[in-house]
Amino acid sequence: MNGPFAGLDEADASGPMPSGRGTNNSLPPPRDLFFAGGAMRFAPDRIPEPSPALFDPATPGLRATPVGVGGRQAAWYVHGPGLDNAVLRQYRRGGLIARLSHDHYFWAGAGRTRSFAEFDLMHFMAGRGLPVPRPLAAAYWRSGPVYRAALLTECIPQARALAKMLEASNPQRVAGAIYAMHEAGVWHADLNAFNILIDHTGKVWLIDFDRGRRRTMTSGPRTQNLQRLRRSLVKVAGAAGDRYWLAVNQAYTGLMAA
Ligand SMILES: Nc1ncnc2c1ncn2[C@@H]1O[C@H](COP(=O)(O)OP(=O)(O)O)[C@@H](O)[C@H]1O
Ligand SMILES: [Mg+2]
Repeated sequence: MNGPFAGLDEADASGPMPSGRGTNNSLPPPRDLFFAGGAMRFAPDRIPEPSPALFDPATPGLRATPVGVGGRQAAWYVHGPGLDNAVLRQYRRGGLIARLSHDHYFWAGAGRTRSFAEFDLMHFMAGRGLPVPRPLAAAYWRSGPVYRAALLTECIPQARALAKMLEASNPQRVAGAIYAMHEAGVWHADLNAFNILIDHTGKVWLIDFDRGRRRTMTSGPRTQNLQRLRRSLVKVAGAAGDRYWLAVNQAYTGLMAA
């Protein structure tokens, strides 16, 4: 292999193979590649040179720059071969258990790694035309009972968090994006004002599907997502945040009734 990602341990790779997923999906099916110590799942039309180096912000060809705002400080903008404007995120723990290990999770099978699960969920959503960035690649590195993980998604250019866009965004469009996600049977585990992005055209994007999942979206989980967003908006903008949320909720209720 040539190019900036040459020199990886291809001898240990069993070669790309279809992962056997993706019915009723407009996107090409993802492929899996095994490498020493782990594996990756990737979009073959977007990742011409799959390799674990794509997930390392120290890889020179990636020209990684930290995202820096919001989240757990483990996200970078990256560029590289087949990786025009992507976001790299490494999975980090929050809370008390982070004192034991900040980036290791317990192994329960490849399909249950945080990265492959998030990739699969976003692949499902993007393939249905929902407003989520396309997942480009997911990886895990296993060591005995634990693993580390990382994810690459398509970068939404010039997007800003809803938290910074209350004056300049449309609550009806935010409601529409959330409603479309729910109608597709997806629950977001952390629907806050930093996980909703608004691009320069005003289009609303949903991101950060870690621990999200497909489920029957009865009124309980719908309300749970909306109330999570309410707390977040109130936290960032007080009464103005609550007014914004009321407009989102009213529009959402209108869509439910239609
Ligand atoms: N696809 C994307 N396009 C543009 N920016 C993104 C994208 N994905 C993430 N970001 C930025 O990176 C931050 C962290 O990513 P996120 O997926 O929310 O992870 P976490 O909150 O767990 O750190 C987001 O708040 C957002 O600013
Ligand atoms: Mg986030």
